[in-house]
Amino acid sequence: MEQQIETLKKQLKQQEKLASLGMLSAGIAHEIQNPLNFVINFSKMSDKLLKDLTEIVEVNADKLSVDDREEMEDIVADLKENMSKIVEHGERAISIIRGILLVSRGKDNEFLPVDVCKLVKEYVWLSYHAMRANHKNFNISIHEDYEEGMPPMMVIPQDLSRAVLNVMNNANYAVWKRSQTNEEGYQPEIDVSVKTANGQLTITIHDNGIGMSEEVKNHLYDNFFTTKPIGEGTGLGMAITRDIIENKHGGRIDFESEESMGTTFTFILDVRH
Ligand SMILES: Nc1ncnc2c1ncn2[C@@H]1O[C@H](COP(=O)(O)OP(=O)(O)OP(=O)(O)O)[C@@H](O)[C@H]1O
Ligand SMILES: [Mg+2]
Repeated sequence: MEQQIETLKKQLKQQEKLASLGMLSAGIAHEIQNPLNFVINFSKMSDKLLKDLTEIVEVNADKLSVDDREEMEDIVADLKENMSKIVEHGERAISIIRGILLVSRGKDNEFLPVDVCKLVKEYVWLSYHAMRANHKNFNISIHEDYEEGMPPMMVIPQDLSRAVLNVMNNANYAVWKRSQTNEEGYQPEIDVSVKTANGQLTITIHDNGIGMSEEVKNHLYDNFFTTKPIGEGTGLGMAITRDIIENKHGGRIDFESEESMGTTFTFILDVRH
């Protein structure tokens, strides 16, 4: 009994840490948005200035030697390309930040039209980078297969992203765990796909990690069931994920798993536009 209380206390602390981490990242995201906007706006302005500069050079072309003119044109072309890279990557950073803000701010249980492929992609890579932050030299190949031109779907974005993140975190952990056995020729792989067919949206995440024993399969969705060391897992991930998919979205979650082979999780939701 005492031991159980001790374990629960530790898990509660972990949950509190996660909650404050969420608030912290929302705060940071918000603060970064402003300077990032400056970076993007000044890059756009500089791009315009380069256009003006090009015009001046053109008008005065006869006053420059051929060599000088060519060199100048090359430099201007490079600068333009650099500017557009700054804008492109700055905008990418902004969209990641929006994603974080949406997750931490989003209202409870609110269905919104969402580009599901984009959402899945964002959280797949968020999970991957979190993994890489802990294990610097660990390489996973992630194969992504997203249906093209999928129209926005009505889902609860902050919940669906949580579900994708939970399953991805487990997949990353499972392949990492298997890689620790130093099995010869093992290549950690995760396959992600998002498809629609017959009015249903299917999100599949497959890993070739350690897989699950019958015992683990039977308790997978139990609250606080975890095989991870204390501090690494709370055992709530899949319970929360099932609640999100089945109760909140009225969908279904399936899995297939074989020990030492891998695991596949599938979310099946009715398409709502
Ligand atoms: N892809 C997977 N491959 C192998 N085992 C898995 C996989 N997904 C889940 N499991 C098993 O199911 C258990 C429960 O998963 P769940 O996500 O609920 O909790 P957790 O990952 O241990 O902790 P957390 O609450 O941090 O997610 C895991 O501890 C693990 O044993
Ligand atoms: Mg988990």
